[in-house]
Amino acid sequence: MTTSAHDFTPTRDDKFSFGLWTVGWQGVDVFGGAVRPPLDPAEAVHRLSDLGAWGITFHDDDVIPFGASTQERLDHLAPFRKALADTGLVVPMVTTNLFSHPVFRDGGFTNNDRDVRRFAISKVADNIDLAVELGATTFVAWGGREGAESGAAKDVRSALDRYKEAFDVLGAYVLEQGYDLKFALEPKPNEPRGDILLPTIGHALAFINELEHPELVGLNPEVGHEEMAGLNYAHGIAQALWHGKLFHLDLNGQHGPRFDQDLRFGAGNARGAFWTVDTVEQGGYDGPRHFDFKPPRTEDMDGVWASAAGCMRNYLILREKSRAFRVDPEVQAALKASRLDQLATPTLSPGEGLDALRAESFDPEEAAARGMAFEHLDQLALEHLYGIR
Ligand code: GCO
Ligand code: MN
Ligand code: MN
Repeated sequence: MTTSAHDFTPTRDDKFSFGLWTVGWQGVDVFGGAVRPPLDPAEAVHRLSDLGAWGITFHDDDVIPFGASTQERLDHLAPFRKALADTGLVVPMVTTNLFSHPVFRDGGFTNNDRDVRRFAISKVADNIDLAVELGATTFVAWGGREGAESGAAKDVRSALDRYKEAFDVLGAYVLEQGYDLKFALEPKPNEPRGDILLPTIGHALAFINELEHPELVGLNPEVGHEEMAGLNYAHGIAQALWHGKLFHLDLNGQHGPRFDQDLRFGAGNARGAFWTVDTVEQGGYDGPRHFDFKPPRTEDMDGVWASAAGCMRNYLILREKSRAFRVDPEVQAALKASRLDQLATPTLSPGEGLDALRAESFDPEEAAARGMAFEHLDQLALEHLYGIR
C-alpha cells in the first residue's frame, strides 16, 4: 500500500467509490424540500477525483432522467463519460432506481401489478447494457419498495416467486450476452416500506440458494441497514465472505435501531466501524470500498465535500489502527490466551473419528474453570481505537 503511517490521504489504490446519489443528495426528506442545488454528474466526478476517490456509481435515473428518449439519453451520458475519461475515475458498479417514480409505489420485481413487474425487469435489462458498456462488473439490486405495510397486501411466498423469477430472467440474459457482470443484493429491514423483503444478510443468502444461477448473485450489505435490525455488521460481512458472497459493500454510519441515518463512514457506531474495517482488510475482500451515505441536510456544498472526504479519511485511520492492533505483540499474546489459534484448528485431527473423541478422558470441571480472557483482549482493541497504543 502506498499510504504510509499517519498519512490519511486517499489514493486510487485504496479503491474508494461513492454513489452519485450520495454527494448529489439535495436533502429532500419527509419533512422538507431541497436545501442544496442539483449537482451536475460531471462535476461530481471531478470533485470526487480531486478528493482521491477511485470510482463512482449511480442509478440509471441519477444520470439519465426517467423516461428520456434515446437522444436525450445520449445527451446526458456524453458529459458524464467525458468527465470519466478526463479524470480516470472508473464505474465499478451500477444500480437501478425501482423506487422513486410513482409507478413503483408497490415495488418493481414484486409489485402486485404484473404490468409494472414487466416494466421493472425491462428497465433493469436496459441498465445492465449501460453498466457493461461503462465497464461495471457489479450490478446492485436494492429492493427498497419491495415489501408491505400491512398483512394481506403482500403474499410473501408469491412475491418471493416473482423476485426469483426476475433474477432468473436477468441472470439468463447476462449469460446469453456473455457479460462479465454479477448481481449484488442489498438487504434492508424497513424504510421506505414498513417491512422490506430480504430484510437482512441472512435472508438474502438463503434466497440466493433458490435461484437458477446462484453463482451470479451475491450481496451488497450496508452498515446502517444491518444495525437498524440490531445486527452486528462485521459478523454479517464475515459470514458473507465465508459463503463467497461479499460482492460489494455500502459503508456508512448509524446509531443503532432507528431511521436509516446514512451518516458518513466512521461516524455513528465507531467501535462497529473498527471491526468492519478489520474484517474487510483481514478477510480477503478486494472489491470497492464503496460509500453510501447522506451528507446531513445541515450542510452546504462545502460540507458535502468535507463529509465525503471524512468517509475516506476515517476508513484510512481505522485501517491503520486495525493493522497496528494485529501486529501488536501484546495483542498476539492475548489472542493466543483467548485460544483463537485453537478455534482455527479442526476439532478432529486427520483420520480421527467419533470413537477417538468418545474414548478421550476429559475433565469438564477443569476446563470449566478456565476463563477465556476476552476482556483483556477487547481492552487492547479499545486502547488501539481510543488512540493510546
Ligand atoms: C437506501 C439504500 C440505497 C441503495 C441504492 C443502491 O437505504 O437508500 O441504501 O442508497 O444503496 O439505491 O441501490
Ligand atoms: Mn441506507
Ligand atoms: Mn445502500
